[in-house]
Amino acid sequence: MTKRELLYEGKAKRIYKTEDENLFIAEFKDDLTAFDAQKRSQAKGKGALNCQISAHLFKLLEEYGIKTHFVECISDHEMVIKRAKMIMIEVVVRNIATGSLTKRLGIPDGTVLPFALVEFYYKNDELHDPLINDEHALILNLVEHESELEELKRLGREINVVLKSFFDKANLNLVDFKVEFGKDSQGNIILADEISPDSCRFWDKTSGEKLDKDLFRHDLGDVKVAYEEVLNRIQKVMQ
Ligand code: TMP
Ligand code: ASP
Repeated sequence: MTKRELLYEGKAKRIYKTEDENLFIAEFKDDLTAFDAQKRSQAKGKGALNCQISAHLFKLLEEYGIKTHFVECISDHEMVIKRAKMIMIEVVVRNIATGSLTKRLGIPDGTVLPFALVEFYYKNDELHDPLINDEHALILNLVEHESELEELKRLGREINVVLKSFFDKANLNLVDFKVEFGKDSQGNIILADEISPDSCRFWDKTSGEKLDKDLFRHDLGDVKVAYEEVLNRIQKVMQ
C-alpha cells in the first residue's frame, strides 16, 4: 500500500489516497492542539503512540462486533483505513463529570454519573463544535434519518461498555471520550477517526492522576510520558 495524493489534513492526522479507491492511509501527527487550536505544541512520538493505541482499541472493538474503519498498521504512525463518508457529529460519552459538562451545568468535577451520558456536538470548527440535540442534527441534515441518531447513541454506549471494562483492568477510569463515525461504501455506519488519549480522558483509579490530553490543555504534565503509560497498560491487559 502506498501513499498517493493528500486528501485531507486535520489537526492531528493527514489522510492520503492509495492505489485502492476504497482504502486510505491515516498518518498520525505529533502536533498537539487544544481550545480550537488556540493552544498549539508538538510532542515527538505522540503520533506514533496515538496510532498504536487506536489500533489496539479498534481491534478490541471489532472483537466485540463493532465495525471500524481500521484495516492494518503499516508503520508505527500510519494505518490503512477503509474509505468512509464522515458524519459531521462528534459523539461524546461521559461516565464521570468533568470538562465542559461541569462548566455548562455546574455538576461538581468528579461526580460519577448515574448512567452513561451521550451527547452530540456539531463538527464545525468555525462554530466551535457546538452541543446539539437530535432535532438540530436533523435540521442540519447531519444524518439521513432519525434512526441513524439512535444508532450513533447505541454505538456510543456499546463502545463505552467495552472500553470501560477494558480500562478497568488497566487500573484506569474511562472518564469520557469522543468518537466519530462514517458511512462505508455499503452505507453501514462504522467507527472512524481515532480513539486515543487525545480524544479520551483517563484517570488512574488509585491516584486519580490524569493520563490524557488534559495534561497539555491545562499544563499539568508531560503528555508523552502519560500516553506511553496508557499504551503500556493496554499492552499488558491484552497479553
Ligand atoms: P469536553 O469535556 O471538553 O466536552 O470533552 C469531552 C471529551 O471529548 C473528552 O474526552 C475530550 C474529547 N474531546 C475531543 O476529542 N475533541 C474535542 O475537540 C473536545 C472539545 C473534546
Ligand atoms: N481538539 C480541539 C482542538 O484542537 C479541542 C480539544 O481537544 O481540547 O482545538
